[in-house]
Amino acid sequence: MPPGEAAHFVSAAPGFVVSAAPILLRSESELTVTSHLMPTFARVDLAFERGEGVWLIATNGERYLDFCSGVAVNALGHSHPRLVAALEEQARKVWHVSNLYEIPEGERAAKRLCEASFADYAFFCNSGAEAMECAIKVARKFQAASGAPERYRIITFEGSFHGRTLATLAAAGQKKYLDGFGPEVDGFDHMPFGDLEAVKRAIGPQTAAILIEPLMGEGGVRVVEPSFLRALRTLCDQHGLMLIFDEVQSGMGRTGELFAYQRIGVTPDIMALAKALGAGFPVGACLTTREAAKGMTPGTHGSTFGGNLLAMSAVNATLDVMLAPGFFDHVKHTALLFKQRLAEIKDRYPALIAEVRGEGFLVGLRALIPAGEMVDALRAEKMITVSAGDNVVRLLPPLIISEQEIAEGITRLDRACAQLNQAYVRRQKQGAAG
Ligand SMILES: Cc1ncc(COP(=O)(O)O)c(C=O)c1O
Repeated sequence: MPPGEAAHFVSAAPGFVVSAAPILLRSESELTVTSHLMPTFARVDLAFERGEGVWLIATNGERYLDFCSGVAVNALGHSHPRLVAALEEQARKVWHVSNLYEIPEGERAAKRLCEASFADYAFFCNSGAEAMECAIKVARKFQAASGAPERYRIITFEGSFHGRTLATLAAAGQKKYLDGFGPEVDGFDHMPFGDLEAVKRAIGPQTAAILIEPLMGEGGVRVVEPSFLRALRTLCDQHGLMLIFDEVQSGMGRTGELFAYQRIGVTPDIMALAKALGAGFPVGACLTTREAAKGMTPGTHGSTFGGNLLAMSAVNATLDVMLAPGFFDHVKHTALLFKQRLAEIKDRYPALIAEVRGEGFLVGLRALIPAGEMVDALRAEKMITVSAGDNVVRLLPPLIISEQEIAEGITRLDRACAQLNQAYVRRQKQGAAG
């Protein structure tokens, strides 16, 4: 870009287009570093100093309605009293011990996650990408332990996102994110989204597993047909493959059940979790059946920080809230209301919104104008959202949102769309006149 021109930046995750305040680029010699954070994110010129429930309070005191939740992380909103109390209490006792010792809070968290799911084991780590790395390793090791070490390849789907490590980038296979980082990690076969025949053709003597997000988040809140997931399960059973679900984004209540697979009724062998698992505390987990983990003996995997006491107290506090009677009734009720109101907005602004997508509170508006423009317009209305692939604006409010707060969000969305619509009509008229 020529010096002196204003830039609109595109950020880090696939489809995760964040329009930043324009930055004036100067010539190379004049360029001064104003931030010592590596410039891998295009950050908006806005910082928050406090959060209360679904509200974020900026450093200038302005209140923003948070319909992003740190990209599906703050499922219980900000400063939830149960989480604050749990972390304060644990912080006064002990923060971290090595995984070489027993961690009763971790045993408890693992037991609760397993009892609430298909799984027998949980491995705790620190992020979604690490949870996925563990899932990939478990699947490959399962085959090796079954006497077929040559079965290491994993079938994945175009448009998916599994993280930023070298293996998880290779799993998703998006060329633009792999570019410049050396040879792509081998072992992933990418299929077109929803193409069952392609999957059948791709299964070969080296195939170990099939990996899919049961509801695709970064790729544009794309819903996977339950019949497709059922067919994948059948194929895995027929060919001795592991079925891996990446529920890093869709899990921990986002879709109105603790895990998205429970809505769909198709059970994986291995599942990756993170994001809302600690409701804001960085923690991930890989859940597996006993059979799937049969190769995972001492020394085969590990993590220094994974499953430490602070993280485990956050997971247990999150589960205390989510597993309490009535929690998911509330989520389902309010999410349905939200979707109905969004459908009305879509009908009111057919030039702006093509489709309302998603399940529960993992919802997307497929925009007919650049999604980033809608995200910007919403931010001007003091409402935080985030875009995704396929020109989608993602709406990910905390699961604890009330009906009144949903109504407030809809009012702000309506106002932002009214502004955008006026600009759209003006552009149309100018186009017709020109
Ligand atoms: C489905 C999915 N998998 C994996 C990841 C990677 O998670 P993390 O950024 O915590 O490594 C993400 C993050 O957006 C995700 O949405």
